[in-house]
Amino acid sequence: MSELLVTEDLRKTFGGIHAVDGLDMAVEDGELVGLIGPNGSGKTTTLNLVTGFLSPTAGRVVFDGEDVTGRKPYEVSTRGIGRTFQISKPFGRMTVFENLLVPNVSYGVREREERVWQVLEELDLAQVAENRADALSGGQKKLLELARVLMLDPKLVLLDEPAAGVNPALMDEIIADIKRINDRGTAFLVVEHDMSVIKELCERVVVMNAGRCVSTGTFAEIRADERVREAYLGGA
Ligand SMILES: Nc1ncnc2c1ncn2[C@@H]1O[C@H](COP(=O)(O)OP(=O)(O)OP(=O)(O)O)[C@@H](O)[C@H]1O
Ligand SMILES: [Mg+2]
Repeated sequence: MSELLVTEDLRKTFGGIHAVDGLDMAVEDGELVGLIGPNGSGKTTTLNLVTGFLSPTAGRVVFDGEDVTGRKPYEVSTRGIGRTFQISKPFGRMTVFENLLVPNVSYGVREREERVWQVLEELDLAQVAENRADALSGGQKKLLELARVLMLDPKLVLLDEPAAGVNPALMDEIIADIKRINDRGTAFLVVEHDMSVIKELCERVVVMNAGRCVSTGTFAEIRADERVREAYLGGA
């Protein structure tokens, strides 16, 4: 395995707040990694730094052997990083099908439509293809976001709280979808507060506290780590 994504001493300050404060972490090719930590520990900021939605104050982001620090979001996505948002943002007045035609993929019109149907079937959304996106349930909106990301054939997908607002039955389906897509070689970095989802899904977990990585390992390993307990209890 080789390193697909690396952050080196990554930092982001907002005024006096050190949101990301010297983060060193990596995702290997094809890995399925969880990113956890208390509220405000810098998880979403990290995703924004990796995807170019924010520019770091210092440090580097290396993706697939290339320094992508400070690149624009579209430059990062064309290199193979897809992401979803903590709050889903589909184009509400467009249909599910139309939402999937939006990403700027390199195929022609016909291939693009074929690819849309493939992705819709893969995620069991074909039956709602003609529905307006704002009529979907919370969980289906999350699936639609994942579908949009898959249109770009990413090497790495960053998910910000895929389980938030999703009913447990649909979450089981989403977990199965992520595992299946991962089996075909797509790496994932999943930010999530629901530990049952992290336990079920992730081969390895990275734990952040106050903008840094404080522990990494399997779910069992990090759960047994004193530094992780301290982080969640707000201790030093
Ligand atoms: N645009 C911003 N301007 C100012 N402060 C910000 C901004 N974005 C994030 N922060 C601050 O940076 C810190 C890290 O926030 P971030 O959203 O990355 O945390 P998080 O780990 O994703 O939390 P949660 O689990 O609640 O989603 C917090 O103190 C937050 O208030
Ligand atoms: Mg967040």
